[in-house]
Amino acid sequence: MDKEKVFAVFGNPIKHSLSPVIHAAFADQFSISLKYTAELIESHDFEDSVERFFAAGGCGINVTVPFKSEAFQIAAKASQRANRAGAANTLLSKKNAIECDNTDGAGLVCDLKENLSWVIKSKRILVIGAGGAAQGILEVLLKEDPAYIHIANRTKSKAIDLARQFSDLGSVEGAGIDDIASENYDLVFNATSAGVKQEPLSLPTSLVNEKVCCYDLAYGSAPTEFINWAAERNPMGLTDGLGMLVEQAAESFYLWHGVRPNTKLLLNQLRTNQLS
Ligand code: ATR
Repeated sequence: MDKEKVFAVFGNPIKHSLSPVIHAAFADQFSISLKYTAELIESHDFEDSVERFFAAGGCGINVTVPFKSEAFQIAAKASQRANRAGAANTLLSKKNAIECDNTDGAGLVCDLKENLSWVIKSKRILVIGAGGAAQGILEVLLKEDPAYIHIANRTKSKAIDLARQFSDLGSVEGAGIDDIASENYDLVFNATSAGVKQEPLSLPTSLVNEKVCCYDLAYGSAPTEFINWAAERNPMGLTDGLGMLVEQAAESFYLWHGVRPNTKLLLNQLRTNQLS
């Protein structure tokens, strides 16, 4: 076996991250020897922590809440999709320079199409939130040709700015959360960090009925408030972010190791608590 390679996911909070389990399972598929840990990073210490990690011989970092924008900013070079998002979830060190990529969008679309068979084309889409998570999925969603995407955010100006950044790719508008009550949507994505931070997310009650499918980009050890709220309205058309988590991890794994793991088996094992 080759020398053990070292990887980590950086975030805050990070305790319940499944990324170490996912990457260990992928590595087993190819007999790759690796160590992958979850690291709690203080908000002022992200850049130094990244530099220390790579200086010590680390091979790659996944980045989660709240560091995706900062990860993009500190990288010397960015992939096309990270550039478009202005946010990164994957860091690599090449020739002593930090490079970044964003596999979130690819992970989401793979989960929607391959695992869930949800159709995006011609759908009326709402994305709630305008932070790093929303930035990472807008390009791929717009490329699937929805009827339109509305971005609704607690801070309205951020939604409007974000919509402007992506307006060359399709019909996309920004609004405040209170402005969306009377719209009819087919798909609603929660891209806020409210669930991860265990904060309340206040949404108009009329937003979701039995015809609206909901997707929470977040995944945690317990259902988020958004998942519980949506389950009361349409329990059949609802999913959390576990599929996206596994698929974006597979895409990061490919960037680091050059091989594509089988995600279906692992997703099934995680859904049925065969791994923890
Ligand atoms: P990340 O980059 O990881 O997505 P972020 O940049 O902090 O994290 O963005 C988090 C998003 O969740 C933002 O859109 C934030 O809204 P604001 O721009 O108004 O801060 C949203 N968010 C976080 N907590 C929220 C809450 N309790 N209710 C509604 N929106 C929330």
